[in-house]
Amino acid sequence: MRKTICIANQKGGVGKTTTAINLAATLAAAEKKTLLIDCDSQGNASSGMGIEQETIREKNLYHSLSGRVPLREVIVGTQIPHLDIVPANQDLIGVEIEFVNLEDREKKLRNLLKNLDAAYDFIIIDCPPSLGFLTLNALVASDYLIIPLQCEYFAMEGLGYLLNTVRLVKSRLNPSLTLGGILLTMFDTRNLLSHRVSEDVKKHFGKNVFNTIIPRNVRLSESPSHGLPIIMYDIRSRGAIAYMELSREILANGRI
Ligand SMILES: Nc1ncnc2c1ncn2[C@@H]1O[C@H](COP(=O)(O)OP(=O)(O)OP(=O)(O)O)[C@@H](O)[C@H]1O
Ligand SMILES: [Mg+2]
Repeated sequence: MRKTICIANQKGGVGKTTTAINLAATLAAAEKKTLLIDCDSQGNASSGMGIEQETIREKNLYHSLSGRVPLREVIVGTQIPHLDIVPANQDLIGVEIEFVNLEDREKKLRNLLKNLDAAYDFIIIDCPPSLGFLTLNALVASDYLIIPLQCEYFAMEGLGYLLNTVRLVKSRLNPSLTLGGILLTMFDTRNLLSHRVSEDVKKHFGKNVFNTIIPRNVRLSESPSHGLPIIMYDIRSRGAIAYMELSREILANGRI
């Protein structure tokens, strides 16, 4: 059965895209057929996967969300076997306003996925840093939510609001939405604050926190500029090892 996971947190720069790209790539490396959907007008997941701008202009999520073509027609292959992507770019900027009067506007992505008959094991959706139309569509389309939390001061700020939105979506629009887990990112072992934040988060959220913690790792921040997921850029880096561990945890523990 296909599992759809959205990576969301309205806070900016917490590691959503890095997690979406590298979770998708490590699941594909485990021979799970995976589709990464870039649901952010910044298009970071698309460029981070090395998709050419020209290709993105021709095939992107906007074309399908706006009803012009089925999702299947904007899926692009990647250099990783078993991994495809639906790219995005600034075309998505206006959708919130453009779709304001449309019926079922928050179910657009869900309906596109429902009509997609390709055999994927996992669909990973990278969300923008807001709780607007696109994140709402991603939450409504997903079975699971992963929330990346940066191990910094204010990490949990706004989390209550996000979890409340999840509760609303679950009760009104998508009863199957489940918290897959909170993922601690950019953990710096030498920084006392990182330790304190991770302890606090674990105290609050207990079993809902992934055992895997993503370390702060320069190789992880370099890899998107080469258009490569970390396992293709530097498989021996601590970042690569951590994301491989995350996909192993997800495949093994049965929560997702
Ligand atoms: N574990 C890490 N170690 C070092 N740098 C990281 C790590 N994770 C992410 N980064 C870097 O931090 C920045 C923000 O990460 P990323 O783009 O994944 O966050 P985001 O939540 O998707 O941001 P946005 O909210 O803008 O979409 C990027 O430059 C990325 O390369
Ligand atoms: Mg991002």
